[in-house]
Amino acid sequence: MEVVPLRSTDEIAAIAADVFESIVRRKPAAVLGLATGSTPLPTYRELIRRHEAGSGPSYAAVTCFNLDEYVGLRAGHEQSYRATIGRELTDGLGISPQRVNGPDPSPDGLPTAGERYEALIEAAGGVDVQLLGIGADGHLAFNEPGSSLASRTRIKTLTDRTRKDNARFFDSPDQVPVHVLTQGLGTILRARQLLLIATDEGKADAVAAAVEGPVSASCPASVLQLHPHATLLLDPAAAGRLRRLDYYREVYAAKPAWQGL
Ligand code: PGA
Repeated sequence: MEVVPLRSTDEIAAIAADVFESIVRRKPAAVLGLATGSTPLPTYRELIRRHEAGSGPSYAAVTCFNLDEYVGLRAGHEQSYRATIGRELTDGLGISPQRVNGPDPSPDGLPTAGERYEALIEAAGGVDVQLLGIGADGHLAFNEPGSSLASRTRIKTLTDRTRKDNARFFDSPDQVPVHVLTQGLGTILRARQLLLIATDEGKADAVAAAVEGPVSASCPASVLQLHPHATLLLDPAAAGRLRRLDYYREVYAAKPAWQGL
């Protein structure tokens, strides 16, 4: 894992946007893995700002895959992750909604939604870069603690803590769905590059457990330790409980110029 302690959310957004842009420049038909939540928003705003300023690449040929989706919201609900990704990112980059995929939460299709989503990702050639956040409980996508490290896309039940954390997006906590469809940890591991962003003090324990704790289903984000190209971009608060923080700083400062993230 490459742990990159940065100074601010603005710096994180600029670097994460650089990573996405360089992949799309190299491969215009890249497959982008997208995440929802508050953490990626500065990165998404930066990508749109550059796109509107004309300095970004064309996204016309990319395909996107969302990490997860709520189950039980009416189709088109503004808090559905399909609607959220369109509003926060893909519409602003001129990516047609037909090129943005998410797990299908329609009630009749739930038993096969996981395997259908896996097949779609595979048919697209796999994900080139997957953006990730981390839950305060160490969850990755909606893989709550206890999720199999080999899991594939499937239905999951949210913990009370995650439902409370996400209640801010709804009018009342009881409107937060109980079930979700989420890429599994095994699905996420198949992406060619993982880029995890964590900001704020509330993520510091989860980051420390993921990076410096054992690989364990009890901290789903620790599965990143098994990936050959996983990068973590951290603000000072989220990095605050890492024991090897000084070393990560030294590594980043000494990073060879030829070696991108
Ligand atoms: P957040 O969510 O970015 O809104 O903190 C991250 C997550 O739950 O994975």
